[in-house]
Amino acid sequence: MSQLLHNPQYRKLALLAFVLVLGIGSAFISVQAQVLPYQDPALPIEARIEDLLARMTLEEKAGQMIQAERAASTAGEVKKYYLGSLLSGGGSAPHPNTPAGWCDMIDYFQKGAMATRLQIPLIYGIDAVHGHNNAKGAIMFPHNIGLGATGDFDLIRRIGAVTAKEVRATGIPWTFAPCIAVVHNPTWGRTYESPGEETDLVTKVSVAFTQGFQGEAIADLSRNDKIAACLKHYIGDGATDYGVNAGDANFTEEWMREVLLPPYIEGIKAGAQTVMISFNTINGLECHANGHIINDILKEELKFDGFVVTDWDGINDNGGSYRDCVKSAVNAGIDMIMVPNRWLECLKNIIDLTKKGEIAPERIDDAVRRILRVKFRLGLFERPYADRSLNDSFGSAEHRTVAREAVRKSLVLLKNDKKILPLPKTGKKIFVAGKNANDIGNQCGGWTIAWQGQSGNITPGVSILEGIKNTVAPGTVVNYDVGGKGAKGHDVAIVVIGETPYAESKGDDQLLDLDVEDRYALNNVKKSGVPTIVIIVSGRPLIVTDEIKNWRAVVAAWLPGTEGQGVADVIFGDYDFSGKLPITWPSTIKSPKEKPLFPFGFGLGYGVTK
Ligand code: BGC
Repeated sequence: MSQLLHNPQYRKLALLAFVLVLGIGSAFISVQAQVLPYQDPALPIEARIEDLLARMTLEEKAGQMIQAERAASTAGEVKKYYLGSLLSGGGSAPHPNTPAGWCDMIDYFQKGAMATRLQIPLIYGIDAVHGHNNAKGAIMFPHNIGLGATGDFDLIRRIGAVTAKEVRATGIPWTFAPCIAVVHNPTWGRTYESPGEETDLVTKVSVAFTQGFQGEAIADLSRNDKIAACLKHYIGDGATDYGVNAGDANFTEEWMREVLLPPYIEGIKAGAQTVMISFNTINGLECHANGHIINDILKEELKFDGFVVTDWDGINDNGGSYRDCVKSAVNAGIDMIMVPNRWLECLKNIIDLTKKGEIAPERIDDAVRRILRVKFRLGLFERPYADRSLNDSFGSAEHRTVAREAVRKSLVLLKNDKKILPLPKTGKKIFVAGKNANDIGNQCGGWTIAWQGQSGNITPGVSILEGIKNTVAPGTVVNYDVGGKGAKGHDVAIVVIGETPYAESKGDDQLLDLDVEDRYALNNVKKSGVPTIVIIVSGRPLIVTDEIKNWRAVVAAWLPGTEGQGVADVIFGDYDFSGKLPITWPSTIKSPKEKPLFPFGFGLGYGVTK
């Protein structure tokens, strides 16, 4: 034989035979793999789930219940511990922060999952709460409070669809959105993540976002441009005492059902696939340990068939040892634990608690069934890797147009004395001032590129000042000074004031007054005697009761995102104002709802002055 191999003819034949054997062998293996029922897309999803579940060990099941942070895990660990999910926390992005960078990262982790015995794909989750906000160059939409002001639910559906496309373009199939808090106190630092203070409004936003992200039917979820939604934070996040983030909320079940639950009920009916538990307690009990709200209401009563995820390390305050926390969370009905760094400890505890009978195997099966259901519905078993064909739509002009429309519709005109607005595009000398006039980071707010957000040119966009300059006729003078110096001699001043970026907890503010920088700019302009239009860029109402008499016009612009051009579109009269207050504008911080400066639903237009 060895001699035969010296003969080139025989060598060729032997090689051919070898290749044939390999080919038949691998074809055989792939046919074998195809025939496993759970891998057969032609079978009903429920049959696939049961088939797969029956093949899984306890370790494989427990792994599915873990969601680790990308920066705290490797593809090797995903494979070794059968991790079911990874996330990007606020600001957690790959290098480079480009669509290709994201796709490469997702595929790297996914390869780990696909190298496991059963090849169960990962589900990667991220906060895309006003567009794909961790991704540089993505379109940042107005935060939810501004979308509540639009009252345009078709627009919100379209925003959901654009966001889904941009998120999928980076290989991600799941967003932790929408936040459907019904906000009760604007001192809460997450007020801007809520669509407003009224249940009906929030409910409509919940449905619109769910449909936009996911499509109208469950079958749409497997499209390459759809993502799973996550209704959050269940429940009571916006109703804590004194508006303290993650604080204690005190209410009766009757009130909860009437005021806070409808956005969940309707969001679930619209098909929302996941629900995130809230950090707050209800009458002293941690939501993450509250079997009544999760097992009884969400799963039994509302028939929610997707999965329940915790908030970031949300189980840690459940009480007792860490083991106790894991136990109370899983037994309360939590399916997936967002446990960014401590995931191995959590995983080992789930396994041990189950082995010792402290968590019933049926509870584990329920959790895994739900997680697999969402993965099957998303088509992840068929297409686990990033679809790079969507890259061109990321940050596209078409998407930008939708955001600009959203900005226009979110603006609320609070005052317009002697109809100073709309401004003419010609014949006026315009002065612009204020720290939020020319700052993309400030107009985007928190949850933009960084977790707490950041001032400055953090991502491409059009500032409010640039929008004004783009809109006026050639020859019209627009001068700008951040501190408001040099206003004298102008016909009109536009002062853009408000808040600088913040997110959860750091944003809690018991005063809501204007800061020193804003007062300085306003004072300088006031001294000039030039008629003043104030644009407030903020995540919530600010207390301006004493100052407003000095201003001819006032616009609440919320946190508009990257498309600041939308502001000029309206103040120069190309479009009318249509936004209405989604939240009461208080006159003092002590009594937010009594004798408000402007009531819920208030908003002027060019045809209406009162
Ligand atoms: C927030 C959630 C968010 C999660 C992941 C938490 O701190 O409360 O809203 O989805 O982090 O970033």
